[in-house]
Amino acid sequence: MALSDFLAELDALAREATTAMEAASDDESLEAVRVEFLGAKSGRFKHVQKGLGKVDKADKPAAGKRLNEVKNHLAAALESAQAQLANRPAETGDSSGFDPTLPGLRPRLGHLHPITQTIAELTDIMGRLGFTVTEGPEVEDLWHNFEALNIPLEHPARDPLDNFYLATAAADGSPKWLMRSQTSTVQIRVMEKTKPPVRIISLGRVYRPDTADATHYPMFHQIEGLLVDRHVTMADLKSILRLFATSFFEDDVHIRFRPSFFPFTEPSVEVDMSWEGRWIEMGGAGMVDPNVLRAVGYDPEEVTGLAFGLGIERICARRHGVSDIREFYKNDVRFLHQF
Ligand code: PHE
Repeated sequence: MALSDFLAELDALAREATTAMEAASDDESLEAVRVEFLGAKSGRFKHVQKGLGKVDKADKPAAGKRLNEVKNHLAAALESAQAQLANRPAETGDSSGFDPTLPGLRPRLGHLHPITQTIAELTDIMGRLGFTVTEGPEVEDLWHNFEALNIPLEHPARDPLDNFYLATAAADGSPKWLMRSQTSTVQIRVMEKTKPPVRIISLGRVYRPDTADATHYPMFHQIEGLLVDRHVTMADLKSILRLFATSFFEDDVHIRFRPSFFPFTEPSVEVDMSWEGRWIEMGGAGMVDPNVLRAVGYDPEEVTGLAFGLGIERICARRHGVSDIREFYKNDVRFLHQF
């Protein structure tokens, strides 16, 4: 096993154990935490310690040293957690054991959810590139979610199995509303109201009846970008996305386009970004289809546009090394506290 893997595992365990100790609200739960992490037979620290045997020989001293540091740190954290609990006034109402001169218990400060933090950061980066934020409704009509985006009535993307239609139906029984399946709806809403040039982003929730797994969730967030002006090209699309990724990952990120298809862009691409030696699929993009420009009353002979839609959970998960996006929605403060 590589030293870095061993250390990463060790540090993750240390963080989790410390958080759990701090969160324990009585002796019983603290004892449970102790057994889980520091139990002599099958505690998780023991388990990680066993991994030391598999670390490359040359790295053993460094790994062993860190192992000891973490062990001491956890022992100290346990002691201080025990001391804190012992200092609590008894809950019987008997305050004779209460010593007002002892330092108070510091309440733990909360912070923004990692997805919210990512949204704020993406907004900031795109703001520096001149994009302003626009919002659209999460309950959409068929015009904005499909029709104006060049997705006609018979198109498979409208399948009830792929969308959350609302039960309210038109007089002929056909659905009228749905939870928007993409933030591309906002492209239409903005262009309907504004004359070109347009330079906006929109960040928000979208809904698809996908089975939840490590990379899917029936609700997730997208960042949509739209730039319409004279002489906008694919080269602009690529450099904007590259600047965006490089700012977010604070590293020299590369962008790869793979040919794809979306009804509302032509040509269309899937966007991958390479960071720390791995390609990550980020979402879709392309040049706004002339039919879409016509649907909102723009003249495709006059202006062209670029658009992209990227998954925010993926961006956030990749940055923080989170391997399962479901973690973002469990509301487990021990997980959320780390960001
Ligand atoms: N709306 C597309 C999706 O959700 C992504 C996309 C946005 C593609 C803009 C092209 C242009 O998959």
